[in-house]
Amino acid sequence: MSKPVGEEILHEFVENLRYIPSSCNFQALKYILVTDDEKCRFMRSKTRWAGFLKDYNGPDSDKSPTAYMVICHDTECCENETMFLKDVGISAQTVNLMACEKGIGICMIGSFDIKAVEEYFSLPENIKPKLVIALGYPLEFPVIEDEKGSVKYYRDENNIHHVPKRSAKDLIIK
Ligand SMILES: Cc1cc2nc3c(=O)[nH]c(=O)nc-3n(C[C@H](O)[C@H](O)[C@H](O)COP(=O)(O)O)c2cc1C
Repeated sequence: MSKPVGEEILHEFVENLRYIPSSCNFQALKYILVTDDEKCRFMRSKTRWAGFLKDYNGPDSDKSPTAYMVICHDTECCENETMFLKDVGISAQTVNLMACEKGIGICMIGSFDIKAVEEYFSLPENIKPKLVIALGYPLEFPVIEDEKGSVKYYRDENNIHHVPKRSAKDLIIK
């Protein structure tokens, strides 16, 4: 098990997230902060990991994330949920960078059981979960490599996770 990510770190992150750019400055994103063991186990059970990998169901219990943030949209700030998906991306990547600075690894999880999360946390109608961020001090060290014909991540015979990335040249349209 890795050292837990403390609740105070997530609060520090939200202090900074107050200042991120926001469509029309509506600041419609709100956060569920999870560090409690039982709640982390719940989040682990409702998140789907690494869909490309056939025989992998995500991190084992001894390697599981020790904190989660659920980025939610508050429709009382603005009803248009689609408009704020860009804000969700900005928020998530800001968390990624803040976490990285502290040596914490993250995984953004778009595939999760929204209904179960809504019920478990007794969310009011206006709070819509959009993206989960799982956090933990890394116990694995994935290999980033140049894409050679496929962008599908994979695990090698030593269970090392490999992530192919397109070259910068391939990202430039003109
Ligand atoms: C919006 C978004 C949603 C994602 N959803 C999931 C998910 O549901 N499950 C998962 O295991 N990974 C998810 N990922 C993580 C990606 O699979 C991961 O970023 C990608 O494989 C590249 O790996 P890297 O982040 O280590 O470079 C998501 C990433 C993003 C940006």
